[in-house]
Amino acid sequence: MNHPDNRLRLCASFVRRGARLADIGTDHAYLPVWLCRSGICPSAIAADINPEPLRRGAMTVAAAGLCDMITTRLSNGLQAISADEADDIVIAGMGGELIAGIISDCAFSHDRTKHWILQPMTKSETLIAWLCDNGYVILRQDCCVAANKCYTVILAAYTGESPPRDTLYPYLGELCPRENNTHLRFVRAHLERLRKQAIGNPRFAALADALQKETGVLYDNHTGHSELL
Ligand SMILES: C[S@@+](CC[C@H](N)C(=O)[O-])C[C@H]1O[C@@H](n2cnc3c(N)ncnc32)[C@H](O)[C@@H]1O
Repeated sequence: MNHPDNRLRLCASFVRRGARLADIGTDHAYLPVWLCRSGICPSAIAADINPEPLRRGAMTVAAAGLCDMITTRLSNGLQAISADEADDIVIAGMGGELIAGIISDCAFSHDRTKHWILQPMTKSETLIAWLCDNGYVILRQDCCVAANKCYTVILAAYTGESPPRDTLYPYLGELCPRENNTHLRFVRAHLERLRKQAIGNPRFAALADALQKETGVLYDNHTGHSELL
């Protein structure tokens, strides 16, 4: 197997050494193979809701000679996985709303020992708002660029507490756009979407203004692009 791309590498870097992994929506099973082969994870469940991606995953696992460490399993979210099988759960490459739904439907979603490593392809702000409103804390968040697209990865854990949050938190999370250029690139994409949503919607206009002020980004109304102030 080739090395995983930057997006899956960033997900992998959030997994605890020694953690048993569940990779939900595994498709090719690249992540479990990488983590088991590199000695980070002693075991993994590579799960997918669809038989065809799961078959692809099983082929990757067999080709890597890791059938004794990695189990492939047909599962809608974590429905077919029990709490004592995994410590760190990765849900990558899906929309933010679907990821929130998968966590919400999990029987052990309130287990405080679990680490949730989440890589939303869209609607990261919806996922972050859901996590905060449902008792999860974001322990870490980072961004990367792969194939010229910017992605974020979120590490969350359940605490049972939902302290009041700033309106910008779903967009900024634990990112530091003033200190990190990749974080800035990710937040700028939020700003550009908000500016489009703001046409005819004052709520989004206010959010875009606040995000622009917070990040020091200048938005060009004519080109629809943002620049650093
Ligand atoms: C775009 S692929 C992402 C593959 C890999 N996780 C990655 O990030 O590169 C999304 C995968 O999620 C699977 N999937 C979608 N909904 C799911 C669900 N509710 N439970 C498990 N897998 C799901 C799809 O079948 C597909 O294989």
